[in-house]
Amino acid sequence: MTSLPYHEDPLPDARMLPPRAAVTSDAPRLSLNGQWRFDLAATVAEAPAGFSDPGFDDGGWAELPVPAHWQLHGYGRPAYTNVRYPFPIDPPHVPTENPTGSYRRTIAVPAGWAGGRVVLRFEGVDSCFAVWVNGHEVGTAQGSRLPAEFDVTEVVRPGEDNLVAVRVHQWSAGSYLEDQDMWWMSGIFRDVALLSRPDGGVDDVYVHAGYYGGAGRFRVDVDGAPQARVLLPELGVDVAPGEEVRLEAVQPWSAEVPRLYDVQVVTDTERVDLRVGFRTVRIADGLLTVNGNRVLLRGVNRHEFHPDRGRAVTEQDMLDDVLLMKRHNINAVRTSHYPPHPRFLDLCDEYGLYVVDECDFETHGFEHVGWRRNPTDDPTWAEALADRMRRMVERDKNHASVIMWSLGNESGTGRNLALMYGYAKDRDPGRPVHYERAPDGRWSDVYSRMYAPHDEVELIGRREEPARGVDPVQDAARRESPFVLCEYGHAMGNGPGGLTEYQQLFEAHPRCQGGFIWEWIDHGIRTRDAQGREFYGYGGDFGEELHDGNFVADGLLFPDRTPSPGLHEFAKVIEPVRISGAADGPLRITNLYEARDLAHLRFTWTAEEEGAEVAAGELDVPSVAPGGSVELDLPAKADGGAETWLTVRAVLAADEPWAKAGHEIAWGQVRLAERPPAEAIRADGPIALDPVRGVLTGLAGLAVDGPRLDAWRAPTDNDRIRPDAAAVGWQAIGLDRLRHRVQDVRHEDGSIVVRTRTAPAALDVGLLTTMRWTPLAGAGLQLDVSVQPEGEWTGSLPRLGLLWSLPADLDTVTWYGGGPGEAYPDTRAAARVGRFTSSIDALQTPYVMPQENGRRTDVRWAEITGGSGTGLRVAAEDGPATFGLTVRRWTSADLAAARHPVDLVPGDRVWLTVDLAHRGVGTASCGPDVLPQHELYAEPASLRLVLTPA
Ligand code: GAL
Repeated sequence: MTSLPYHEDPLPDARMLPPRAAVTSDAPRLSLNGQWRFDLAATVAEAPAGFSDPGFDDGGWAELPVPAHWQLHGYGRPAYTNVRYPFPIDPPHVPTENPTGSYRRTIAVPAGWAGGRVVLRFEGVDSCFAVWVNGHEVGTAQGSRLPAEFDVTEVVRPGEDNLVAVRVHQWSAGSYLEDQDMWWMSGIFRDVALLSRPDGGVDDVYVHAGYYGGAGRFRVDVDGAPQARVLLPELGVDVAPGEEVRLEAVQPWSAEVPRLYDVQVVTDTERVDLRVGFRTVRIADGLLTVNGNRVLLRGVNRHEFHPDRGRAVTEQDMLDDVLLMKRHNINAVRTSHYPPHPRFLDLCDEYGLYVVDECDFETHGFEHVGWRRNPTDDPTWAEALADRMRRMVERDKNHASVIMWSLGNESGTGRNLALMYGYAKDRDPGRPVHYERAPDGRWSDVYSRMYAPHDEVELIGRREEPARGVDPVQDAARRESPFVLCEYGHAMGNGPGGLTEYQQLFEAHPRCQGGFIWEWIDHGIRTRDAQGREFYGYGGDFGEELHDGNFVADGLLFPDRTPSPGLHEFAKVIEPVRISGAADGPLRITNLYEARDLAHLRFTWTAEEEGAEVAAGELDVPSVAPGGSVELDLPAKADGGAETWLTVRAVLAADEPWAKAGHEIAWGQVRLAERPPAEAIRADGPIALDPVRGVLTGLAGLAVDGPRLDAWRAPTDNDRIRPDAAAVGWQAIGLDRLRHRVQDVRHEDGSIVVRTRTAPAALDVGLLTTMRWTPLAGAGLQLDVSVQPEGEWTGSLPRLGLLWSLPADLDTVTWYGGGPGEAYPDTRAAARVGRFTSSIDALQTPYVMPQENGRRTDVRWAEITGGSGTGLRVAAEDGPATFGLTVRRWTSADLAAARHPVDLVPGDRVWLTVDLAHRGVGTASCGPDVLPQHELYAEPASLRLVLTPA
């Protein structure tokens, strides 16, 4: 191995300085962020020779910003693969075609830096680099998302301009360890700085701030400055390094109340500022606890991403993420699958988020070769892996927010994991360690799974899951440990479905301590098509020969950080206060916080008759301890006559750092009165019915066309991704190309009855629809629909709907039912009953890959209006009946054919679907499919509608 070039050598460069904590220091620091001279060569050999010499002429070079990925600045192109390596598996070798960036810039180092040590620090370079100062090579490094420091004292020239030259390789031995499911993008993508290190300064600090039995324990270990003082002025602490004090008056840190104390470590020559949170993480009696309280992780997996900047995120991007998380009731982040920019953890400390800090390590692609030569189990890579763990733990050890270390993701099993685990446990016994891949839970203090279906989670909750792994002793220990879903709820496209049922399990079984949705944000890259129209690119949009399509767009946020319906759903499902009740009372309010009472919340209520407010007020809610609940009298009663709902909302009583007073935390609804059945008044009137096609052709001057039975939806990602996906079956049957045969049109008792058989070509199954049209007073029509399946149907159906087309000048929808957002049978927690209005355009959800979307649930009536003429009102007037509603300017076929939202062009009709029934969406793109209670099969269905002009 000695002859390997540095970029193919797995051994860390011994010139890298020992890793240490990222801290705020008053020692002089020069940022090297900004414009650098840049050249990109196709191979290592073709990179310009002599570029590191101060005399080299880079006059012809372009400029590239640091931090940035060169692929997002016109050099090469981003490429996306999930599991597969985009190069042959030939470790530790990488292709000769290895894009190599040469970076140069000068920096004036103040004369005052003379005499002291000078350190050059890189926060992140993807994937491998060598660095020279004034023509002298000072070191090389791998580990894209890990810091690297070099002592440049001997070569730096204070008082002069100094040349820093960096050569960055897209591929390296390290690339084998960085097979995360994300874009392959290269360059100096995090900050670079020159640090003056004063004599007698603080080389490293390690804060120990526990919270036991109502008191704090505090000690700060300091490297390099034994004479330093450790100050915590607020509590009058002034101690020596390594001296432990017990602090009675301390308030603990938690994600709910992230109390931080300012601490300084001071020497004659340097002052380091720290924000310290007192908290103790422990696994006790098989449960993960923080300050003695069982925690329920309401988490997300966060990649660093911005649609223009990739992983070169700014402070504002990080803050946006943290604020959005806090505002959606999220309390935990797994930094999938690498340590984040160090500032992100400062923000998690400050705003309150539990963090599982994950090492920059994934070798998933070895799965494709039967895990042969997996670095995880190869001694050649032992030091590389230990080095990665060390660099993460040392950098991030002082953060209260970090409650667990994670060894990495999907790297199989092997002996090197023991080194990584061992390092963390020896150095930091106070934090549990996470790893998901070892079946028997080895190298992990928690039992972790990804995408386990609900029934398995239930068994785990009871500690009755089947044995795993080969070692029964190890397996017994695993069964004793707390359970987390390091990934669940795959948020790809429309979904994830089934979150409510997961949350019920987490709340029912103490062992099930929640988990992390996969994932936080869609990694769509902003780009343009040939016509200049902007869209978010995914795998394959950049000419990759090997790619995994839109699997990279599976977040709760759209690429521009707009919340998707999935985020609204998640926020509702995980709300920390549960509000429920029944018409005859009482109203129950349950506090699901771990450490907080409800004093920071204000409770308001409204009573609405058919969506119109009739009364409102404030609710006096007594203090409720964490885990407790209270029962109250209902603040309103119904007078009858109309469907009446009581809505109770819990909002912030005062501003919090992450949201303003009035921000909604939780809500609940109680139906006070049912909807009385409407009286339909029959009348004699004309029915504009096409006797050949059996459809209505007009209503009071409105050019209605329909309905026809529809049993199709444009496949969602969850419907179509897996080889055995539901939509494969639907398409095989031909639900996307149904034919209609009008069997007969008959006049019966003043009604017209149309019987139609809807069926796919080549098969003998069908759906018999009977539509009975009855004229009503006021130009209305009553439509009684019933559907009867015929033949041997196998498999599920996506929907049973009535499809109409309407004039294109209609533009507005007002409805009474579930809203305001999109909802499907297993994603309806966030839909509240009310009256809502939206433009047709705003009803559409712009999934990065177009698919079924925009449905509103539990609709009692809807009015589609606008344009010059009459609109249409559709109502389910029959007592408790409701329907699902979609209104769009394109068909399901258009949606299914589109690759990007820009492909969807409004047509000359508006398409209305009234669902009698609809299948859930599930999470089968990765994880369980639709739960049985949300499935839909070919079964009899019926609905009574009243159509009137609007
Ligand atoms: C997991 C993996 C994630 C992501 C996800 C699917 O197996 O850990 O990185 O690939 O599947 O989106």
